[in-house]
Amino acid sequence: MALSTPHGGKLVNRKDLNKDVSSIQKQIELDEVALSDLELLSNGAFSPLEGFMSEEDYNSVVSSMRLADGTVWSIPITLPVTKEKAEELKAGEEARLVFDGETYGTIELEGFYAPDKKREAKEVYRTEEEAHPGVKKMYDRPDTYVSGKITLVKEIGHEQFENYYLDPEETRSAFESRGWNTVVGFQTRNPVHRAHEYIQKAALETVDGLFLNPLVGATKSDDIPADVRMESYETILDEYYPENRTFLAVFPAAMRYAGPREAIFHAMVRKNYGCTHFIVGRDHAGVGDYYGTYDAQEIFSEFTFEELGIQLRFFEHSFYCLKCENMATAKTCPHDKADHVILSGTKVRAMLTNGEMPPKEFSRPEVVEVLIRGMQRQTSNS
Ligand code: ADX
Repeated sequence: MALSTPHGGKLVNRKDLNKDVSSIQKQIELDEVALSDLELLSNGAFSPLEGFMSEEDYNSVVSSMRLADGTVWSIPITLPVTKEKAEELKAGEEARLVFDGETYGTIELEGFYAPDKKREAKEVYRTEEEAHPGVKKMYDRPDTYVSGKITLVKEIGHEQFENYYLDPEETRSAFESRGWNTVVGFQTRNPVHRAHEYIQKAALETVDGLFLNPLVGATKSDDIPADVRMESYETILDEYYPENRTFLAVFPAAMRYAGPREAIFHAMVRKNYGCTHFIVGRDHAGVGDYYGTYDAQEIFSEFTFEELGIQLRFFEHSFYCLKCENMATAKTCPHDKADHVILSGTKVRAMLTNGEMPPKEFSRPEVVEVLIRGMQRQTSNS
């Protein structure tokens, strides 16, 4: 056994930190999403992509979850600019990719196209509603997409969790140095609770290592902030996770909330980080009632294992059962709903606001303390 082969065959590396960009006049201002896409394109997390998608790839991804060459890819990775900006740019030239006045990358301008955003919304997000945060974000971005290969020319510095930013090449060698042949990846945009811990450890029972990979890119404003998410992991790793079998690193991507489509994307990217397995629980990457509880699991049946190149670990909705005195799912627990400790995010927030501690069957007390401190920080900042 060995770690997974990168998606598309080889790990992309589009970094050239010595590149001289002084002669490149034209520039494109990146938003937060495009900046994180640039980072993930350059370090190989988005292999086999080498840049922002061409019209051909985009159309193919939107309609059939594949790049034009047939490789599985479920989420468009696009660089939107205004019409005026597009008119300023010319195919065949290079432009600088700028964020906050700083040049982080370059793009070899290849093409420009006007997407059918309603179609993108319907196909990728399964809804055209602006109430969907991923759809809204996509609608709000400019209306011309620019394609072309990118190069990262300056590392994107991070104020927080700098030690947890690892490129796929680095996570792969970390896994190898631990002697892991099989690694299960876990995506999350939330602080760790007992159901997470249960499915992570249940999956770990079957493989060599657990790759905890909380997303720290842009999320919607009412999601729990990334620092609280990371702190929750730092707090309980020492106490409750075996050090020689657990590895924590951040996933700098923006959240799309595209449910099933995003689950595939999340799996492909974790494969690039070296994972051989990936966890998909209930309503993965979902938001509101847009997706069915297990849609993000069912979508994988549209592909063969060979084309995915990563094994899935599906879990049903997990909870603590007071009768079993254990974590369980409907698959493993015969008891009544009344015996199950299930709390929604909204309920947990309300409890914390009222100074009530969620029960330890729901969340480790150490994590509850992190949540309370996080809420206090938010209140004092607002
Ligand atoms: S996500 O947007 O990153 O998917 P979240 O952090 O809530 O959100 O979930 C991380 C992973 O844990 C996902 O695979 C999700 O399906 C799974 N998950 C979350 N809560 C539960 C639960 N109670 N039971 C089973 N799986 C869960």
